[in-house]
Amino acid sequence: MTDTLAQGALPPKANFEKTIDGKKTDLYILKNAKGMEVAITNFGGRVVSILVPDKNGRLTDVVEGFDSVKGYQDAPGPYYGALIGRYGNRIAKGKFTLEGKEYSLYINNAPNTLHGGKVGFDSKVWDAKQIDSATLELNYLSKDMEEGYPGNLKATVIYTLTNDNGLKIDYTATTDKTTIVNLTNHTYFNLNGANGGTILDHKVQIFADEYTPIDPTSIPKGKNDPVKGTPFDFTQPAVIGSKIEDKNEQLTNGKGYDHNFVLNKPSLDSPVAIVVGDKSNIEMQIFTQEPGLQFYTGNFMNGQNTMKYGAKDNHRTAFAMETEHFPDSPNEPKFPSVVLKPGQVYKTTTEYKFSVAK
Ligand code: BGC
Repeated sequence: MTDTLAQGALPPKANFEKTIDGKKTDLYILKNAKGMEVAITNFGGRVVSILVPDKNGRLTDVVEGFDSVKGYQDAPGPYYGALIGRYGNRIAKGKFTLEGKEYSLYINNAPNTLHGGKVGFDSKVWDAKQIDSATLELNYLSKDMEEGYPGNLKATVIYTLTNDNGLKIDYTATTDKTTIVNLTNHTYFNLNGANGGTILDHKVQIFADEYTPIDPTSIPKGKNDPVKGTPFDFTQPAVIGSKIEDKNEQLTNGKGYDHNFVLNKPSLDSPVAIVVGDKSNIEMQIFTQEPGLQFYTGNFMNGQNTMKYGAKDNHRTAFAMETEHFPDSPNEPKFPSVVLKPGQVYKTTTEYKFSVAK
């Protein structure tokens, strides 16, 4: 099954038609007028495939993922393609205080909690409604105290494939008790195509003059540092691998790039980051309203899993760019707030837009 899929083909829908936790899972296909296709499963709201034309017009799947829902179930840890919630990235020691009350979360990334806890939104079956050929709506109700978070949180995520080859993700959420929320998507990209080798020769530009340095457990130290003069300076396009092995305490702490960049200007009109695949020339621009971008270079990938096209998830064969609020914000009063109160609406949009670089 895995190795018969040809690069650029979508996995069989039947591999995703299952019942998990009493709910039906499926594979939903979005198409646009340009021939681009995106496959998403409502198991964790995961982006399974994104087919875009490369420099020769060949449809290329730029997502590292599995060709069956079972693949995602068996490998929850790397969060392939998933929607992440209730809190994207880490919360120090799994503890935070809200309105005078301390809350404790599951420690799944000792000594911290990561990406929502033991069973985050990435492994929940979302209610799915395909609105039209290019739009998928997903809904999930996270009950009061699920994974230790207060309040019934109603989350809606709408994936839209636009006619200018953008995959737009609109997130909204409401709560009935004061809570914290930080939703993101954890797609692993290889712009040379899934099974395209390491991403070390991809070119990256991130419009961020500062980033949040981390301690050895990947928790931000609570202050922003300038990127200038460091391997974190991507203000001009730079090859990912050019400095990743530099002797640098921050690269040691992250085991490579696994850091939150403080975006100069979150925007849906001008990109916050641009990545180009060196072999395919496929360019991905990222637009977001979020203040931060977690740039992760697949440092923990270790070849344990067999993915679509028979690819192994080898070290640094994909990268993630997670748009979100900063890690550990609930414990850092200086970071933008992640608190959501009853009556407020959490609303944020991110778009990944594809083209061929000039
Ligand atoms: C985290 C990494 C983690 C990866 C997969 C990223 O968002 O920052 O440390 O290994 O997700 O879980």
